[in-house]
Amino acid sequence: MTAKVDISFTLNGHLKKVSVPADMSALTMLRDMLGMTGTKLACGEGECGACTIMVDGVSLNSCLMYAAECDGRTVLTIEGLRTAAGLDPMQKAFVEKGAIQCGYCMPGMIMQAKYLADTKGKMTHEELQRGLEGNVCRCTGYKKVFDAVAAVVGVTE
Ligand code: FES
Ligand code: FES
Repeated sequence: MTAKVDISFTLNGHLKKVSVPADMSALTMLRDMLGMTGTKLACGEGECGACTIMVDGVSLNSCLMYAAECDGRTVLTIEGLRTAAGLDPMQKAFVEKGAIQCGYCMPGMIMQAKYLADTKGKMTHEELQRGLEGNVCRCTGYKKVFDAVAAVVGVTE
């Protein structure tokens, strides 16, 4: 039987205390134990970005992170972007630019876009594209996604 680890961390502004199997991923904990189903499981091996969250302000693939590694840290999922004031500006931009192509990829794309907006500021088109290269769309393309992110961060060329 897998040993359990007691952890506590901040999830979307709320303190959480959970007991998790040592080999459980952060993604499984978020989805199956804490109901944060906006974070998606797709490839499960760090290739697609559908599971993107922010930990201590840094975007990462939650399928590659152990739940136990969340201990003492601050975790933000797509559910945490909306505040009492309404949608985050990045969420609004995705809606307004028609970039909500499917519910499976968009939470991860928005989380990565939010990370870029929080940390990079204005970018070139190439930097913007590179910043989102870890987030895969399997259906439509990236034009409207780039337009949405550009509307928030601004592009220099
Ligand atoms: S599900 Fe984590 S990167 Fe694809
Ligand atoms: S946006 Fe999800 S497959 Fe294209």
